Amino acid sequence: MRIISKEVIALCAGTRIVKISLVAPELSRKVQAGQFAVIMVDEKGERVPLTIVESDSAAGNVTLIFQEAGLTTKFLGSLNTGDNLYAVLGPLGHPTQIKNYGKAILVGGGVGIAEILPVARALKKAGNHITSILGAKNKCLLILEDELKDASDLIYVATDDGSYGRKGLTTDILSELLNKDKYDLVYSVGPIPMMRKAAEAAGEYNTDSLVSLNALMVDATGMCGCCRVSVFGKVRFSCVDGPDFDGRGVDWEELGKRNKMYNEQEKHICKLSPLFK
Ligand code: FES
Repeated sequence: MRIISKEVIALCAGTRIVKISLVAPELSRKVQAGQFAVIMVDEKGERVPLTIVESDSAAGNVTLIFQEAGLTTKFLGSLNTGDNLYAVLGPLGHPTQIKNYGKAILVGGGVGIAEILPVARALKKAGNHITSILGAKNKCLLILEDELKDASDLIYVATDDGSYGRKGLTTDILSELLNKDKYDLVYSVGPIPMMRKAAEAAGEYNTDSLVSLNALMVDATGMCGCCRVSVFGKVRFSCVDGPDFDGRGVDWEELGKRNKMYNEQEKHICKLSPLFK
C-alpha cells in the first residue's frame, strides 16, 4: 500500500502527530465512521490498529493519523511519500451506530480527536446537533480544530497548561454542559482516564454513552483474545465486538492494567532501536 502524502500535523517537545494518506481502493469504498484498519509496516513488524479518519472512494485513498509513541508508530512516521506499507487489513470493527440521537457531545483527547472527526461528520449528516470538546496537553499538540469546527455546531477546547482554550480537562467542560442542558449522547475517544470520566458523567446525567476503546490488539479478527475487555460483566473483544461500547459498563481498571501489560518490553525494544537514538 503506497503512501501518497505525509504531513506532520503536530510537533511539540519531541512528540509528533503524523497524517498519512494511502492508496487503498477497496478499503476506501467500504469503510464507515468508527472503523479501523490494522497495518504492518514491514513483513516482520507488529500489527497496529489505527482509525481511518477520512476516505475518498473516488480517488481510492484513506487517511490515517497517529502519534509516534512506540516502535511501530515511530517506524511508520519515518516513512515518506512513495514508500509502501507491507500490509493493511480492514475495515475492521463495527461502525459507530449513526442515527438521529438529537443532541450529541463528542469528546476527543490527544490523538483521539482524529477518531471523533469521522463520527462527528456522520452524526451531523444524520441530523444531530453536535458539540465537540477537544483536549490536548498544549496548543501545539491540538489537531483538527478547523475540521471539527466545520463538523460541529459548537466547539470547546481545553489544554492542560492553559496555552489555548480553557485550562483544565475536557471532562470539566462536559460536566458543565450536562449540568446545564439535556443531551442524548456522549461519545468519547482518548486516554482511558478521560473516557472513564466522560462515561461516568454521562451515567450521572442519564445520557447514552459510547466510547471507542483502544485495547491492545494482535490479530484483530477475534482469535487471539488480546483485546479482551469486560463490559457489564461480560467478556467482549474490542476488535470484533467493538471498538465502540457503552462506557457506563466498561471495567476501566482491567482495561488500564491490560493496556500496560507490555510497557517494559516496549521500552526495552525502543532502547535498542536506532529510531530512538
Ligand atoms: Fe485478537 Fe481482538 S485482537 S481477539
